[in-house]
Amino acid sequence: MSDPSPFKARRDRLLARMAERGGGVAVVPTAPEVIRNRDTHYRYRHDSYFYYLTGFREPEALLLLVAGDEPRAILLCREKDPDREIWDGFRHGPDAARERFAMDETHAIDALDEVLASNLANQPAIYYALGHDATWDQRLTRALNSVRANSRGGVAAPPTIHDVRALLDEMRLIKDASEIALMRRAAAISAEAHRQAMRTARPGVFEYEVEAVVEQAFRRAGAQAPAYPSIVASGANACVLHYVDNDRRIADGDLLLIDAGCELDGYASDITRSFPVDGRFTGAQRDIYELVLAAQQAAVRETRAGAPWNAPHDAAVAILARGLIDLGLLRGSLDTVLENEDYRRFYMHRTGHWLGLDVHDAGEYKQGGEWRPLEVGMTLTIEPGCYVRPADDVPEAFWNIGVRIEDDALVTADGCELITAAAPKTVAEIEDWMAAGGDDA
Ligand code: GLY
Ligand code: MN
Ligand code: MN
Repeated sequence: MSDPSPFKARRDRLLARMAERGGGVAVVPTAPEVIRNRDTHYRYRHDSYFYYLTGFREPEALLLLVAGDEPRAILLCREKDPDREIWDGFRHGPDAARERFAMDETHAIDALDEVLASNLANQPAIYYALGHDATWDQRLTRALNSVRANSRGGVAAPPTIHDVRALLDEMRLIKDASEIALMRRAAAISAEAHRQAMRTARPGVFEYEVEAVVEQAFRRAGAQAPAYPSIVASGANACVLHYVDNDRRIADGDLLLIDAGCELDGYASDITRSFPVDGRFTGAQRDIYELVLAAQQAAVRETRAGAPWNAPHDAAVAILARGLIDLGLLRGSLDTVLENEDYRRFYMHRTGHWLGLDVHDAGEYKQGGEWRPLEVGMTLTIEPGCYVRPADDVPEAFWNIGVRIEDDALVTADGCELITAAAPKTVAEIEDWMAAGGDDA
């Protein structure tokens, strides 16, 4: 993080919204470190809400935002510690963090109890994600009780707790310029990883070898991690929606479904491509692929400011249902198939989700019981699929074909921009890209 100003702007907006609601103090901790086994931790990942407001990536940190006549941003973080820094690396420490992250005040996290209690005293409300982290719930309870213990001294604990996520989720739904720039870069890195994967996957190669190519491409381009466990699913594995074993040897004639996206500076990308490992779609593979592609194109056309959230999904489902009937995979009229949701046998997930700091990003999908309208600056995935498991009433040529096509979209005034479009997608683009590759590409 080089420029603290986008983070400060978000804090100021949250403070303004809290002030409109009568003021109070927001309590936003970062994520805990988590043991993987014995004395080894999982690689640390900050909390997305905390990061959104601070840009601070170290563990053991807390942000307090005090709304009112003199709004204040207070960061608590680890002290500098030359001995620990030899083992675990650099820590900003409170003094350097104040300037670096444009805070009004900073304190050592060791002073948590006093700083929390003094900033909670006499506040009208707390904004906090109650129930998200039991340890922080206990810390907050302890601080509230210590304020209550001083009631005869004339101080009162806040009588109200609001969920800070209700305000932050609405903010996170509309991406600002710095977020869009990062998401474009993350999308470009992931698209390039998919291009490399298409030139690596061949019959005889293991799924995990392709996974390694994808994730190497992420890291080589500077992304910190995959945004979610990479799915590299060949043959029948493509019909397992959350397949992550990635340990099968790819066979001649397989389709390979890769759902993988990097996280760059806290922002996720999320791409799926499905392609034939020997470089040519067979007839049945092509039929299903073209159908899913047509469904995606229909969904993309419905992705624009003002359209309800559900419009892209409905458009994709209508195309898929019609196509499944035409291919002999479903029987009955289009109306019946749609009404009975018979298509769910082959298409059982939804067509997208919000995308941002989290791969399934924060934000409500309905408002007042209605699908919310899309707005300029929202980011979402568009990812129809079709998964055909073997069954007596399904022509054998279609068995075990699993196709998903997923792109990341930025809603614009007159439509949407697919920021992942650099990954080959049409049948011709995929076959040409793979034909021009070869083992040495
Ligand atoms: N990769 C997670 C998803 O597509 O939703
Ligand atoms: Mn997705
Ligand atoms: Mn995905």
